[in-house]
Amino acid sequence: MTVLVTGGAGYIGSHTCVELLKNDYDVVVVDNLCNSSEISLRRVAELTGKAPCFYRCDVRDTAALSDVFRRHEIGCVIHFAGLKAVGESVQKPLAYYENNLGSTMTLCRVMLEHGVKQLVFSSSATVYAGNNPMPLSEESRTGDCSNPYGWTKYMCEIILSDIARATPGFSVALLRYFNPVGAHESGRLGEDPSGIPNNLMPFISQTAVGQRRELSVFGNDYDTPDGTGVRDYLHVVDLARGHVAAMDYLKAHEGAAVFNLGTGRGTSVLEMVHAFERVNGVAVPYRITERRAGDLATVYADPKRSEQILHWRAERTLEDMCRDSWRWQSQNPRGYQSGD
Ligand code: NAD
Ligand code: UD1
Repeated sequence: MTVLVTGGAGYIGSHTCVELLKNDYDVVVVDNLCNSSEISLRRVAELTGKAPCFYRCDVRDTAALSDVFRRHEIGCVIHFAGLKAVGESVQKPLAYYENNLGSTMTLCRVMLEHGVKQLVFSSSATVYAGNNPMPLSEESRTGDCSNPYGWTKYMCEIILSDIARATPGFSVALLRYFNPVGAHESGRLGEDPSGIPNNLMPFISQTAVGQRRELSVFGNDYDTPDGTGVRDYLHVVDLARGHVAAMDYLKAHEGAAVFNLGTGRGTSVLEMVHAFERVNGVAVPYRITERRAGDLATVYADPKRSEQILHWRAERTLEDMCRDSWRWQSQNPRGYQSGD
C-alpha cells in the first residue's frame, strides 16, 4: 500500500517514513520544506535502502496536491504538515490558522475527491484543558487552549470528526502526542529546530554541545517532587511506530478515534538534565529562572487505550532518549546544515 506523508521531511515525519518503509509500505512525501530540509529524506533512503517519492509543494495547493493523488494510488494519509511553535502562534495567529486549518481542509477535500478515506492526524496533548486531574485519558476535558497553535489542533480534531461522521467509510485516528524527544539511533535523523529552541530537549543538547551558554530552568517552585515541571517524554521512534499501529487500526474501523501517545511516566526538568549528563558524560549548565507563562506543573498520559486497542506501547527509556538526542546533536552540531 502507498502512504502519503504530508510534512514527511520534518522531525516526526522523517522518523515515520523510516518505520513505514521498514514495514514495506511505499511512501510518498509532500512537504513545502518551510521548517525542514530535503537532506532528511536522503538520509531516510540511506537508512532503509528505499527512497520516498518526494514532492516539494504546499498541502494547501489544491492543484499540486490533486496531481500527487492522480499519480499515485494512495491508500492512507498521515498528516504531519503544519506549523508548531507555540510562541510564534501567539505573534502570528493568522499564519497558524491559515496553514494548519487550510492544509487539513484542502487535504480532506482532495482525499475525498480521490476516494481516499483513511487518515492519521498529528494532534497534541495541548488540546487538553489545563485543569484536568492527571493522568490525562482520552476522555479528559479538552479546550481552553492557551494559544492559537493549540486551538488549531483542537479545531482540526473537530473538523476531522465531523467529516468522519458525515462520510461513510471514512476513518481517522487523532493521535495526541505528549512530548516527543530523541532521535534515530543511527544519529542520522533528528530534530533540527531553527533559531533558539522552545522545547526542553533540543535546548539541553545545544547547551551540552556548547551552542548555548546555559539552560534556563523555568521555575523550581511547582508542586512537583523537585519543584520543576514534569512532562511525559517519549522517544520519537516509539512515536513513529505508533503511526504504523494506527494505520493498522484504520484498516478495520470506521469513524474518528482518539489515542494518547505517551509513556504514562512523568519526568521533571532536573531529572532530565541529570539523566542527560549521566548517560552522555557531558555537562549541562543551568540556572533557575522565572516560570514560563502558560506552563503547567505536571502533564502525563494515561496510555491504556493505545496499549489495548492499537497494541502499541512506548518501549524506549529515558536513557535511550538522552543518548540518541546526544548522538544526533554531537554528530550534526548544525543539524542538517552539517551536510549530507
Ligand atoms: P516539523 O516542523 O519538523 O514538521 C512539520 C513539517 O511540515 C515540516 O517539514 C514543514 O516543512 C512541513 N509543512 C508545514 N506546513 C506545510 C504546508 N502547508 N504544506 C506542506 N508542508 C508543510 O514538526 P514535527 O515536530 O515533526 O511535528 C509534526 C506534526 O506533529 C505537526 O503537525 C505538529 O504540530 C505535531 N506535533 C508535534 C509535537 C512536537 O513536540 N514535535 C507535539 C505534538 C504535535
Ligand atoms: C510545549 C508547548 C505545547 C507543545 C509541546 C510540544 C508551551 C506552553 N507548551 O509543551 O503546546 O505541544 O511543547 O511541542 O509552550 N523548560 C525549561 N527550559 C526550557 C524549555 C522548557 O525549563 O528552556 C521546561 C518547561 O517549563 C516544561 C518542560 O521543560 O516544564 C518541557 O517544556 P517543553 O519542551 O517546551 O514542552 P511543554 O511545555 O510540555
